[in-house]
Amino acid sequence: MFEMKDEYYLGVEEMDLEHKRLFEIAEEAYQLSKDEFVPDKFDYIVKILGDLKEYTIFHFDSEEKYMQSISHKMFFSHKLEHQEFIEKLNNLDWNEIEKDQDRAISEILKFLNNWLVNHILYTDKKYV
Ligand SMILES: [Fe+2]
Ligand SMILES: [Fe+2]
Repeated sequence: MFEMKDEYYLGVEEMDLEHKRLFEIAEEAYQLSKDEFVPDKFDYIVKILGDLKEYTIFHFDSEEKYMQSISHKMFFSHKLEHQEFIEKLNNLDWNEIEKDQDRAISEILKFLNNWLVNHILYTDKKYV
C-alpha cells in the first residue's frame, strides 16, 4: 500500500532516500493492520510509532538543513508543517491506542497516507 511512486521523487537523492524509508515504516504499519495472527498489537504499534518519530525527526532536520543551504524562501512555513507532525506524534493517547488497537492503527494509516503524500507532493516539491 505504501511505496515510493514515481511522482514522489523530487530528484534530490538524499531526500528521496529518506522519503523512501518513511514509506517503508508506513508500510510496516499497514502490514501490522492486516496481520490477524497477532492478538495484541500494542507493542508493535509502540515500536512502529517510535521508529516513525525517530526517523521523522532525523529527516526533517536533514531536509531543513538542505532548504537552508539553498536559501529556500518558504523555509519557515515548511518547518511549521514539520513541527505540527512531530507534535501530533508527541501527543498520542497511549491508553486510547492500547484500548482500541485496530482503530488506532487505521487512524495512524489514514494520517500517514494523507500526510506523507500531501506533504511530499505539495510542500516538499516546492524546494526543488
Ligand atoms: Fe518536508
Ligand atoms: Fe520531506
